Amino acid sequence: MPQSSQQAHLLAIDQGTTSSRAIVFDRAGAKLSSASRELPQSFPKPGWVEHDALRIWDDTVACVREAIEKSGIAAAKIAALGITNQRETTLIWDRKSGRPIAPAIVWQDRRTAEFCRKHADRGDWLNERTGLIIDPYFSATKIAWLLDNVSGAREAAQRGELAFGTIDCWLLWNLLGGKRHVTDATNASRTALFDIRKQQWDDELLDFFRVPKSLLPEVLDSADDYGRTLPELFGAAIPIRGIAGDQQAATVGQACFEPGMIKSTYGTGCFMVLNTGREFTRSKNRLLSTVAYRLNGEATYALEGAIFVAGAAVQWLRDAMRLVKAAGETEALARSIEDTDGVYLVPAFTGLGAPYWDPEARGAIFGLTRDSGIAHIVRAALESTCYQTRDLMLAMAGDACAPKELRVDGGMVVNDWLTQFLADILQIDVVRPQTVETTALGAAFLAGLGAGVYQSLDEIAALWKSEAHFRPRRSSGSVEQLYAGWLDAVQRVRSA
Ligand code: G3P
Repeated sequence: MPQSSQQAHLLAIDQGTTSSRAIVFDRAGAKLSSASRELPQSFPKPGWVEHDALRIWDDTVACVREAIEKSGIAAAKIAALGITNQRETTLIWDRKSGRPIAPAIVWQDRRTAEFCRKHADRGDWLNERTGLIIDPYFSATKIAWLLDNVSGAREAAQRGELAFGTIDCWLLWNLLGGKRHVTDATNASRTALFDIRKQQWDDELLDFFRVPKSLLPEVLDSADDYGRTLPELFGAAIPIRGIAGDQQAATVGQACFEPGMIKSTYGTGCFMVLNTGREFTRSKNRLLSTVAYRLNGEATYALEGAIFVAGAAVQWLRDAMRLVKAAGETEALARSIEDTDGVYLVPAFTGLGAPYWDPEARGAIFGLTRDSGIAHIVRAALESTCYQTRDLMLAMAGDACAPKELRVDGGMVVNDWLTQFLADILQIDVVRPQTVETTALGAAFLAGLGAGVYQSLDEIAALWKSEAHFRPRRSSGSVEQLYAGWLDAVQRVRSA
């Protein structure tokens, strides 16, 4: 390998739901510097969630500049840039002016729920092509909503004057000065307009959702030549060589490259992704099928389970209930008692995600007695994340295979008690990697692959290192009893 490749530096943009970040990594995947900006959320009506796309762009530029400056590496020495992003969030902009026609509609936004309810009978047809379900979560109904509700938008779209993109596509458009309208296959796979077997936009889906083809970007591999950043932005034209949606990027960052390998990312929510290999696997258990990554024109598929509330339950304990002052206190509280004494907390604050898909369910606490205290409720909240992970794992085992080991990342897994309880409840080994910024790392790995810094996925897999290994300690009998209590509690919050 040439010396320059050994010393290569990689830059990742990680544009998430609540923040924009930029990180500079070395070739081995060690973080050299980072910068981040919190992203304001707008909730104009109940169930609506919007983002200001111009703010996202400005923050991203500021983060990249700051991260490069802190790294002490000249922009011209950065081998490649990778982009990872909150998925499904939908934006339409004017191709000529580059101005968004409306705020971005965020993935959590439920404004198109009625359309989805009305067309529930098309679920099987949609799932066969896209691997998804009929739900407002995905981009298609959000695009149609913008075309129908922003004055003149549908006509302008018919004239080819508008562009649709997920956030990767928007950032890329701006990084290249409006010269290319491109996305990657993982992001395309979350629109509900993309046939993930044929790897192309599907005319019948476009007709069904009333989306003109002229709006859509070109779809490239996850490691590809996307062009170079405008030199005036960062002082050099940095090659952009990787793009993937955030959960897919985390799958790459966790080096889950073999069928059967599985990762779970614990942020606001929790997203579990199981690599299912080259064959598209349809879920029989209400999980999503999706593209894990596409390299050299060939897609690797995955099954995905989404839990809407994981870390958000700890935020709720802190900000709404004021039971703790800082998230870090939850570990000592959980350890301070033997068990919750039958207390279960079901954090269905925004309904239940996979495998239940019950938007009307609401949160509840069960089993309170006169002896229940703060520690019981806090511990029950942490335990709920582990029980929900088991729900997903069982669904995955029903669809594909029972995993032997789970790789975890995200803010919550720094809590050793939680990670041990997770291993106990799943009854499999749970492994935490050295770098828990796996989403950004995955984008950097893809960019490195696209730029020839790495020659293969094997080379990337060799860089992945575990930091802590948690093995099940409880007997399966006691775990079954605890889990039965959870299933009973979930049953009680479900809508009719
Ligand atoms: O599908 C939504 C997911 O991509 C959002 O991830 O980490 O930005 O909340 P995050």
